[in-house]
Formats: sequence, structure tokens, C-alpha cells
Amino acid sequence: MIITVTLNAAIDKTLAVPNFRLGRRHRAVEQTTMAGGKGVNVARALRALGQPVIATGIAGGPTGTRIVEHLTEEGILNDFVRIREESRTSIAVVDPTSGEQTEINEHGPHVSELELELFVDKLLYLAKGAAVCVFAGSLPRGVDVGLYGRLIEEMKRLGVLTVLDSEGEPLRTATRKGPDVVSPNELEAEGLVGHEFSDDDDRRIGVGEMVELGARESIMTLPEGCLAMLHEAGERRLYGATLDPLEPVSSVGSGDAFLAGFVAARYGGRDPEDCLRFAVACGAESTQHFGAGVLEQREVERLAPEVRVEQLEAPPVGVP
Ligand SMILES: Nc1ncnc2c1ncn2[C@@H]1O[C@H](COP(=O)(O)OP(=O)(O)OP(=O)(O)O)[C@@H](O)[C@H]1O
Ligand SMILES: [Mg+2]
Repeated sequence: MIITVTLNAAIDKTLAVPNFRLGRRHRAVEQTTMAGGKGVNVARALRALGQPVIATGIAGGPTGTRIVEHLTEEGILNDFVRIREESRTSIAVVDPTSGEQTEINEHGPHVSELELELFVDKLLYLAKGAAVCVFAGSLPRGVDVGLYGRLIEEMKRLGVLTVLDSEGEPLRTATRKGPDVVSPNELEAEGLVGHEFSDDDDRRIGVGEMVELGARESIMTLPEGCLAMLHEAGERRLYGATLDPLEPVSSVGSGDAFLAGFVAARYGGRDPEDCLRFAVACGAESTQHFGAGVLEQREVERLAPEVRVEQLEAPPVGVP
């Protein structure tokens, strides 16, 4: 079983608005409402890939009830801790004419210490039947930034593999606790290693630095694929994967679909190059659908052979 953790679960509303302009009144030509938050999106994509997954996390108030109802309707196993304050609603406006998208995310509820401990108990219980735990997204207000790090340590003690996709301080502190995989996008990776990437060498060095900080394996998603440092035959190797971009319907959550694909393949025992091929295909395929984490496995299989994966020379670390 794979667990996904979403501490800041949401109701995600996506609106298609042609010629979206600030300061104007618009009518949406298409709209969807789904349960969301990064871990939930990963769970949706894992389920579409036929993987056994349970979504856990924190959900509050009437919006929290809707989140749980949406998940159950979709057939995504779930077990959330219910809290007093209201879960957030996030809005994405996709403009089909320009291809641009605008996201507005609410803050989310404040979580009390007692509520958080209820969640930790639940996670430890679920972990008894799990092989992998994916921590994805931001931390709610009122929660210690070290939480992901603490949970990663607990999971390691229980022999559960840990995958982390977050940003800022929660990502930085948790990476030091040795997660099995971190998978930030380029901007988040820059924040993690503490400097900007101006060229390919910088990016390659950055992926290595994420491992030096503590992650066993690291991936940096890029608009046209990813760079990754993965274990193979007893050593760490640097890989690059690329795919020609597709015309997106909505690219919200493509990183979450990517991560689901990677987790499904990596812990299904496929070799590193195959895992990256599959992950990039999942990210790309998900852009063809309205709704984060939505993808079709058959289309992923069709796209995967088009992903080019190569082993790369790792630049010497420490080069300015
Ligand atoms: N238009 C596209 N065509 C093909 N692949 C795409 C496209 N957009 C994104 N992808 C793929 O999706 C993956 C994730 O991309 P990205 O780095 O944008 O994730 P992200 O910023 O974490 O996204 P999110 O946080 O919204 O899930 C990448 O591997 C990328 O190749
Ligand atoms: Mg992401």
C-alpha cells in the first residue's frame, strides 16, 4: 500500500475563461470541482495507474466534508483526521486562448497541537500496512516546520520508504532527515540548495547537492522533463529525461502526476531509466486533462517510448 499525506487538503476549482483579463467580469466556459492538495492529486494519479493507495491528511469544516465525499465518490481510499477550522478552496483559471493559468490558493486552516497529534497517530497506524509514504504540499498554519522531518524519521523506523515534494523551510529541514526521494520543481530546488541555476551545469550540480543535503535520491522536474540522481548497481548516477512539450489543456498538477508515475515505477522494481521515462510520460499525459492528477494509463504507455533518457556526466561538485 502507498500512503499519500495531504496536510493542507483543498477543494480545487478549475475554471476555463477565454481571454481572461484582470479587472473584468468573465463567464467560465468550463469548470470542474475536485478534491485537491498535492498528496490528493498524487493519490488520484496512482489510482489511475492501478496502484493500491490510501490518501490521508487533515480536512476541516464543511469544505473538509466535501473533500472526503469527492474522494470517496472517485473511489480513492481515504482516511482523514477531521478538524474544527475550515479547509481551503483553491481556484485555478485556465485561459484556453493564451494557454496561461492563474492560481489563487487560500491560506488554509489553523491546526491545533491536539489535532496534529491525532493525525500523527493515524499515520503511524496506517504505516503498519504500507511500503511507501508520499508527503506532498505545504504545511498548515500553526504546524512546526520540522513536521515532515519528524514524520520521515518515524516512517524510516517502521521500514516505510519516504518521498517528499514540498518547498521552502519544510522541504529544507526534512531533506536533512534522509527521505528516500525528494522531487522539487526547478524553483523549489533552487530554494532547497540555496542558489539559482543559470545553466545546465548548475542544474546538474543542484541535483547532486540535494543528495548531499540528505536525500537518498533526488529529482528536479523541468518543463520539458527532469534531471535525477538515482541509485543503480550500488552507485549514484545522474540521468536526464526529455520529451517534446505537448499543447496543454491544463498543466496544473503535472508535477504530482509525474511523482505518482515515478513512485509506481520505482517501487514496482523498474530500472531508473524506465522509471524516469514513465514519470515524464505521466506528467505530460496529465496536461491533456482538466483536473490535477487526472491521467489515462493507456496514453501514458503510448507516450513513454517517446521520452528520451540518458545517463549524464555529473559535473564536479564545488565548481563555482
Ligand atoms: N506542456 C507539457 N508537455 C509535456 N510535458 C509537460 C508539460 N508541462 C509539464 N510537463 C511535464 O510534467 C512534469 C512536471 O512539471 P513541472 O516541473 O512543471 O511540475 P510542477 O511545477 O511541480 O507542477 P505542479 O506543482 O503544478 O504539479 C515535468 O516532467 C514536465 O516534463
Ligand atoms: Mg510540484
